[in-house]
Amino acid sequence: MSGEPTSERSGQPRDEAARGASEEGSATLGTGGEPTSERSGQPRDEAARGASEEGSATLETGGESEKSAVSFASHGGSATLDPAEKGVAVLSPGEEGSVTAGGSYPPEVRARLEQDAKEIIVRYPRTRSALLPLLHLVQSEDGYVSDRGQEFCAEMLGLTKAEVVGVSTFYTMYKRRPMGDYHVGVCINTLCAVMGGDQIWEELSEHVGVGHDEATPDGKISLERLECNAACDFAPVMMVNWEFFDNQTPASAKQLVDDLRDGKDVSPTRGPKKLCTFKEASRVLSGLTDDLAGDGPSAAGASLEGLKVAKANGWKAPEA
Ligand code: FES
Repeated sequence: MSGEPTSERSGQPRDEAARGASEEGSATLGTGGEPTSERSGQPRDEAARGASEEGSATLETGGESEKSAVSFASHGGSATLDPAEKGVAVLSPGEEGSVTAGGSYPPEVRARLEQDAKEIIVRYPRTRSALLPLLHLVQSEDGYVSDRGQEFCAEMLGLTKAEVVGVSTFYTMYKRRPMGDYHVGVCINTLCAVMGGDQIWEELSEHVGVGHDEATPDGKISLERLECNAACDFAPVMMVNWEFFDNQTPASAKQLVDDLRDGKDVSPTRGPKKLCTFKEASRVLSGLTDDLAGDGPSAAGASLEGLKVAKANGWKAPEA
């Protein structure tokens, strides 16, 4: 896989936007729309905001000697974190509200991440422009953009913690709590929705027992309601760790997740034959290749129908 996420691999218009922002390195981006979770009824990333708003208060006190109580009201849990230990809150998959004190990366992990980060940073003319890939890098380590991960990014890039948090909480591909080994997205944007995407989401969420951006207690599966994956010609579309599963039905979606939970080999419709984990996919999105970018079929079938018709009729794009 190439260093840059392609539409085939990532399938995410958001990621395109993310890359644009990476070049700008801006930390002052506004907030996007916030669809609610049909299952939980919670605003999108409520937990993220809770962690961000409440947790960031802890970070601000991180340099002080007294302990700070942090209330994760949206999860119904609370924890007292020790700022002397950097006050890192770690959420476990499926255990909303459970917070355990964590710390900085162990030295050997930190050394490995630093080496990876340096390889990424030198690709950018401005150091701060490497923020988005570095957020993917720490997500590849922790399964989400952890507090210690954001601190790591800030240190490596000479940014403030607030600048890092401002970016990481904007983009939906950066998760504020651990996702499953297999992060399953169901497109609920217009075309997929009318072709069955809404029904797939309803039934799959019920089947798995979790809602938007929530993970199963065993940490294997997390679900996300996705906006358009730029694969409308294969609607309704699902993605697992950003690989496409085209032309889905509620039954095929549930079978797919059951197979993943049972450890069976599952092949995406396009791309590499074997799925990687969410952490592995995050590492690729950071720009550290797994050399699988060219594997498997890419554009085919429905994607090429328009081109065939245009060629048959001699149609060409108007001159600029
Ligand atoms: S609406 Fe689902 S891929 Fe475009």
